[in-house]
Amino acid sequence: MSMNKEVKRVTTNTLQKMKAAGEKISMLTAYDFSFARIIDSAGIDVILVGDSASNVMAGHETTLPITLDQMIYHASSVIRGAERCLVVVDLPFGSYQSNSDIALASAVRIMKETGAHCIKVEGGEEILESVKKIVSAGIPVMGHLGLTPQSIYKFGTYTVRAKEEMEANKLREDAKLLEKAGCFAIVLEKIPATLAKEVSKSIKIPTIGIGAGSGCDGQVLVMHDMLGINTEFKPRFLRQYLNIHEMASKAVQQYVQDVKGGQFPNKDEQY
Ligand code: KIV
Repeated sequence: MSMNKEVKRVTTNTLQKMKAAGEKISMLTAYDFSFARIIDSAGIDVILVGDSASNVMAGHETTLPITLDQMIYHASSVIRGAERCLVVVDLPFGSYQSNSDIALASAVRIMKETGAHCIKVEGGEEILESVKKIVSAGIPVMGHLGLTPQSIYKFGTYTVRAKEEMEANKLREDAKLLEKAGCFAIVLEKIPATLAKEVSKSIKIPTIGIGAGSGCDGQVLVMHDMLGINTEFKPRFLRQYLNIHEMASKAVQQYVQDVKGGQFPNKDEQY
């Protein structure tokens, strides 16, 4: 998609201004050109090319298997469909945790090979050196605290995080550290709403919640869940706006029936 100069691109500064003005930030995931185009033209502020692609696009149980090359493929497809919104790309598991040089090299590949605008990483104090190095190279970084799916085998479950005071305190500190390290926003996933609200008030950068209540500065959902493409995942925080699974299934059943019954194609649908 060619860049339309009339369209004013959402930037990290826009998000900062939205928080200051009390305007909520809308974010959804996308993984391909066609859906990115629908979501972008519908007025979303941010598209996240999430490593949830590992689940909803590739059918893996966790986000761990997706590779940097695969994330680059998804992100470069999304960017061609996103004319107005800010596009953030997840650094996948294993591409930034070991040391900050590797983290920077991974982030640079995303920026160079996809044309995306920012990257996202999971974790707090443990990955701070990587965050600082990426930020100092001029690459905007979004943080991600609370339930961090890349650490699922450490947690053992996908239940609500930071209910205990010790974990809540670490999250409070991590949010401050990420802000100080230069992150432009932080995703807060599946933590108590009161904690998310408190953290959102304690930092100047926007928080984007998923299962973290209404006190965050914005909200994110996985596109496949909110559009009902994937209907098996039904956590309490999810609002399903459509049932594409059912609609598509009915359409395919009708098509099969039409082909088998000789009703498709008809005389107007041939040359
Ligand atoms: O990968 C993803 O989709 C995410 C969101 C759940 C925030 O990280």
